[in-house]
Amino acid sequence: MQEKVFITSPIYYVNDIPHIGHAYTTILCDMLKKFYALQGKDVLFLTGTDEHGQKIEQSANKHHQSPQSYADSISLRFRELWDNFGLDYDIFVRTTDANHCLCVQKAFAFMYDKGDIYKGSYEGHYCISCESFFTQTQLGSGNTCPDCGKPTQVVQEESYFFALSKYQERLLAHYEANPHMIAPSFRQNEVISFIKEGLNDLSITRTSFEWGVPLPQNIAQKNDKKHVMYVWLDALLSYISPLGYMQDNAQMAYWHNATHFVGKDILRFHAVYWLAFLMSLELPLPRHIYAHGWWTKDGAKMSKSIGNVINPQEVASAYGIESFRYFLMREMPFGQDGDFSQKALIERINAELGNDVGNLLNRLQGMSEKYFNLQLDSKDIPAYFNDELKKLYALTQSVQEKMPQMQPHRYIEELWKIFKLGNHIITQYEPWALVKANKDKEAMALLALVANILAQGSLLLYPIMPETASKIALALNIEINAKNFAHFITHKALLEPFSLNKTPMLFPRIESPLIIESSADSKLDSINAKTPNTQAARLDSINTSHTSEEGANIVDIKDFSKLDIRIGTIVECTALKKSQKLLKLLVDIGEAKPRQILSGIAQYYSPTSLIGRQICLIVNLKPAKLMGELSEGMILASKDENGLSLLGIDSPRANGSKVS
Ligand code: ME8
Ligand code: MG
Repeated sequence: MQEKVFITSPIYYVNDIPHIGHAYTTILCDMLKKFYALQGKDVLFLTGTDEHGQKIEQSANKHHQSPQSYADSISLRFRELWDNFGLDYDIFVRTTDANHCLCVQKAFAFMYDKGDIYKGSYEGHYCISCESFFTQTQLGSGNTCPDCGKPTQVVQEESYFFALSKYQERLLAHYEANPHMIAPSFRQNEVISFIKEGLNDLSITRTSFEWGVPLPQNIAQKNDKKHVMYVWLDALLSYISPLGYMQDNAQMAYWHNATHFVGKDILRFHAVYWLAFLMSLELPLPRHIYAHGWWTKDGAKMSKSIGNVINPQEVASAYGIESFRYFLMREMPFGQDGDFSQKALIERINAELGNDVGNLLNRLQGMSEKYFNLQLDSKDIPAYFNDELKKLYALTQSVQEKMPQMQPHRYIEELWKIFKLGNHIITQYEPWALVKANKDKEAMALLALVANILAQGSLLLYPIMPETASKIALALNIEINAKNFAHFITHKALLEPFSLNKTPMLFPRIESPLIIESSADSKLDSINAKTPNTQAARLDSINTSHTSEEGANIVDIKDFSKLDIRIGTIVECTALKKSQKLLKLLVDIGEAKPRQILSGIAQYYSPTSLIGRQICLIVNLKPAKLMGELSEGMILASKDENGLSLLGIDSPRANGSKVS
């Protein structure tokens, strides 16, 4: 029998459209699903939207819509995004689904009949943004929410309570018996400390607004109808309502092996309240709760007021969903915070995807075509390259261990050692030299080994980059599926005699950011403002926007000829540690020593991508100091809404040639 696995993302509030954090969590779920599916497990993946509560009611009001139609439109945005990204969810639950609402009422009645729910009155503080209750002592200064920092409201209303305190000892005992339930483990310690501080009973109904699941009929009749369910009780139950809980129980078997992915912001709701609800409902507890960290943008917290919120659709449209997935999984050490910047994304695409993987496949295809007409055979690999083969197997093993430890970034690091091994053995053994020395068998074994490295690499890459993995596999004439995973990875089989298919380049080089960011522009301006007479300012002065302002100035040829513009080759280029904007270039213009130039182009070019390029340089500009470094000239460039491009020439010139 196939092992059943259940994986959930949080269900997202429909008060606003999806952002990078939502994309990250949902992609993590898709990644884990694909990993387990390759191992032959039967995986069910749930995502969805959280549509009730005061926050949604307020957002809908602001948009002059009914909560339901507002929720309909935003819920669709989430669903469309996941479809667009090719995320393989099985269940998209909405808390406004009729079946779900019924399930919530039945669960409430079950806990009520059991004596775990009682009526009282709540007096305390409430954060609408987090939909969370706080006591006075928990609040930050100025009565702000300790979680999100926003102002809280004083709430005084009749409420039903869940007897959370009753479950304190059982919760602690459960965590003691299951020390690896929450990853990373320091989060489990935080949860345990929170519980040990003492749990208060939890208010689970609200009366001051209407947008929520009403109480079950019989309880409402006995008491009153103005109560609606607390949105977190409603939301957490959405993990089991679509499995048929309290109805036909059709898919409850999956619940016995459940994994929740959550952001650290909502761990408490899952690790404390949800577990206690489940205990009260006499249901099994989830096996794992994986809590990830927070994404920032260029080092800053993302917020609507700063205007630096990343739209995941925009990033995926510009760079491709595959590269975006890779970046998200690779950049963020699971559990810690991570930073998104186009610069880091481009660097990873060019180096790790383009060079390490794309080039490896290209080199294999090129050499196999040249020497063996694209026909390869693995049979002599063990004879010639047994050590390398052993290394490969050790690596495929260590890659796989990282996933159950929920360390996708380490999984990728290990996987990249496999691709690097492929590149390394080409450099080390030089197939072209082997062929030249008439060692055709050895050359064949070497290329076949590279092909096997790519085959195994592609199977392991599939959870991270499914399309890319499939393209690589297609080039090797294999398919990505559980059978082949067992065959090549688990049973260590080598490719049978096979022919390669040629494929287009996987990751064309990216030279400059593909998304224009207004905040990046304004930062560039602020540097210029501080150094008005420097090259950086002048670089900006040739921007199209500025030339139009200055277009009225007519100059004659004498004025123009005062500028000495020359062709030069960039021989060295480094990032300036103190500045995010400036690159330090050494440009050979045919003088005894290359010129040092500082240029505000770091956001558009990686240092290594510039080495060897010929550019146009104003060489008689008064030297200036920028960030304590001398700059002797100015590079010409042009910028528009698609980014910045250096002026070049269409065929090579001698360094120092004049531009006129
Ligand atoms: O909390 N970085 O929904 P939500 C990383 N409806 N992840 C982030 C993030 C960021 N900057 N911002 C958000 C809710 N997330 C509830 C959940 S579950 C029964 C109910 C991710 O729309 C992260 O996974 O506020 C976080 O837990 C989730 O979005 C919260 O989404
Ligand atoms: Mg939130």
